Amino acid sequence: MTHHRINGGSACIFLLLLLLTTTTTSTPIPGLDTFLTNQFRLDPKASNDSFGSLSSSLKRSLSSSSHHFSSLSQSLLSLSVSVSLHVRFVGDSFPSSTASTFSSFISAAVTNDNFHVISPPSDSSTDHHLTISHSLHLDPSLSPPSLSSRLDETLKSLISVTTSSLRSNLLSIPYTQIDEIVRKEYEKEKHGDGGVYIYLISLGPQSKRYAYSYSDGDSSAGFTKCLGSIWTGKERYLWIDLSAGPVDYGPALSGDGVLPRGEFHPLAAFHGSPRSEKALLADLASLVYNAYQVLIVPSLRVPVYFEDSLIVQLIHIHGSEHKDSSGLDWEFVKRTFMEEGLLLGEQKLRFKSFSVNYRECPICSFAVSRGMNSYTSRFLFDNYTLIVSEYLDSKHMHRTLTESGEELRRVVGIHEEDEFARVLPVYVFDLDINTPLLLDRYHQSVAFKDMVIAVRTRGTQTVSDYTCNGRHVFVHTRDLERPLVGSILQSMWGVSSTHLTWSPRHNSTLVDYTWSVGQTPFGPFSDLSSLSFVQKDAAKRNVILTLLNTTITSAVDIIDSAVAYGGDVNLLKQNRHSEFMQRWNLLKYKLEKSVSALSHNDFEMALFYMRSSSHDLYSMHSVVYLASQEVEASLNCFKDPPFPWGTVSVSGVGLMALVYVYSKRDRLFRSKRKQF
Ligand SMILES: *[C@@H]1O[C@H](CO)[C@@H](O)[C@H](O)[C@H]1NC(C)=O
Ligand SMILES: *[C@@H]1O[C@H](CO)[C@@H](O)[C@H](O)[C@H]1NC(C)=O
Ligand SMILES: *[C@@H]1O[C@H](CO)[C@@H](O)[C@H](O)[C@H]1NC(C)=O
Ligand SMILES: *[C@@H]1O[C@H](CO)[C@@H](O)[C@H](O)[C@H]1NC(C)=O
Repeated sequence: MTHHRINGGSACIFLLLLLLTTTTTSTPIPGLDTFLTNQFRLDPKASNDSFGSLSSSLKRSLSSSSHHFSSLSQSLLSLSVSVSLHVRFVGDSFPSSTASTFSSFISAAVTNDNFHVISPPSDSSTDHHLTISHSLHLDPSLSPPSLSSRLDETLKSLISVTTSSLRSNLLSIPYTQIDEIVRKEYEKEKHGDGGVYIYLISLGPQSKRYAYSYSDGDSSAGFTKCLGSIWTGKERYLWIDLSAGPVDYGPALSGDGVLPRGEFHPLAAFHGSPRSEKALLADLASLVYNAYQVLIVPSLRVPVYFEDSLIVQLIHIHGSEHKDSSGLDWEFVKRTFMEEGLLLGEQKLRFKSFSVNYRECPICSFAVSRGMNSYTSRFLFDNYTLIVSEYLDSKHMHRTLTESGEELRRVVGIHEEDEFARVLPVYVFDLDINTPLLLDRYHQSVAFKDMVIAVRTRGTQTVSDYTCNGRHVFVHTRDLERPLVGSILQSMWGVSSTHLTWSPRHNSTLVDYTWSVGQTPFGPFSDLSSLSFVQKDAAKRNVILTLLNTTITSAVDIIDSAVAYGGDVNLLKQNRHSEFMQRWNLLKYKLEKSVSALSHNDFEMALFYMRSSSHDLYSMHSVVYLASQEVEASLNCFKDPPFPWGTVSVSGVGLMALVYVYSKRDRLFRSKRKQF
């Protein structure tokens, strides 16, 4: 009996194989590019499906396929963003062979890799990679001597006018003038291909040891200004002064995080004992590769779905009657985001602020008491003494605030937002306690995917477990603007901190503070809240990557369910085959265009192709759905499961897949449904 059924099944599969051998090529389709570019001009939001206006000859070229039906999805799973990175060696000490030697080191180190997510959605919490990969295209060359002589001249004059500080053995030089020169060079050089430039500057030893300061004023007793030797621009360039320093910053005693200090860190490569040319270039290659991974193709903190309207609700939970807003300047936070251009398409970003008295909010005090925790540390005074300190556990607070979200919104007076908006609540606990209290011992503010929690007390400063320039870093616990900027970036745009990357090889998140000085809103070593190209690009790229991944997942599911319904045999039978293939090829074409736009950091174009592809995805889904309905009614070939998954019925599996596609579709087509 069973034997007979299997034979029947294989006969059907054989038939299917025969029918599938359509002959075609996958050459570029003439005219399609022009058609789509024209559509972009006419309907930049891709709100209408343009399929109907395709000419019949274009449709004919689209209906062909050279692939076996069930292997169609393979082509979507191998899309790769190519990233161009221009490396410039500035200074006389680089020999002419530098570029080629450097290239060979980089190509030995680089492997094709996927984009990663540090905290994937909870339903796939062990799957950190997206289906899209990236590949590095390196363009190394020596810079003209005129650039290094200009830099050298400026540096020498800066060194001569700067007075040395008693608190540091490094002369602290403002970064601005050097940056101005490099920025001009970048402006002159950039191709308009969206590539990133890295300037490796080596001007040789100067009369005094120096490093760059990023804000006005010198270090004083309560303020630690961390010096650095790098700068990431607002535009797509980054410079590293290899002769500056050596600087040090990192965790004080123990803990995670590579310390950029010591002879073995590539940033200090030019300071240790004399090394061979090759060894130095190997160090530079590792430095550049690290910059590529952390700054140019950074991991997503969380996936971010495209939404037309973004709303940040700033909720100030204050203790005393008198609200102290110094250190909590909402306008400053707002301006930082409004000015940076993080939005795609016609996205809108709004900030709304609310406040509530701690005493009138029982949930708030409940959240704090649930979060209160303590740790002990051992200090040696006359004898060993245990000191108990308190902190708030952010995970407990997050749970309480989630569970009592409704009640809390009622107390604070927050009304329901438009259901198509993404709303990020930012809870700031402003407590009437005199001792400093931090979240999870170290943080003023912690980002979750659905909220930000921040805390401050009356205590104004505390010593952190981080050091720079050989001193402990002070945390000014009442100043919350910068920590909030960093947290909102993580939650709303999925931008990772400059010191975190997901490493598939280690199966864990790596911590490395190398890039956490200068222009970054993250980490304890900088006091700037402005964003560099790293964060600005990541904010937009993350949205596109998430869209791409969701679209690809749905498309693969559609193919899988079509295959479960007997592949294109049934589609063919119902004369739907050619429309399905046209849609499929169009979808694939648009995804390729989107990835190519992403390669040039042209996010608007990438968004257009993604939105445009949603029509094709929807239509393919409908074709398969209709076919499945009819198959249900007239299933005669497959009386029994044709696949070895035994008792699970085909229609059950197909239906489950469709339900899944449907649920994904919800996310994709939200903005579309809104029109109806
Ligand atoms: C989309 O289609 C509708 C109705 O067919 C039309 O009114 C509208 O102008 C179209 N929009 C664009 C941008 O072409
Ligand atoms: C440890 O030293 C403190 C003073 O620093 C003193 O009060 C305490 O009694 C000492 N404890 C022991 C066990 O000696
Ligand atoms: C990575 O770690 C997680 C949990 O720590 C574990 O469940 C998973 O199997 C690991 N993955 C690999 C590939 O080792
Ligand atoms: C990306 O796609 C893969 C496979 O299609 C899926 O397993 C993963 O959960 C997706 N990730 C996100 C963040 O959507």
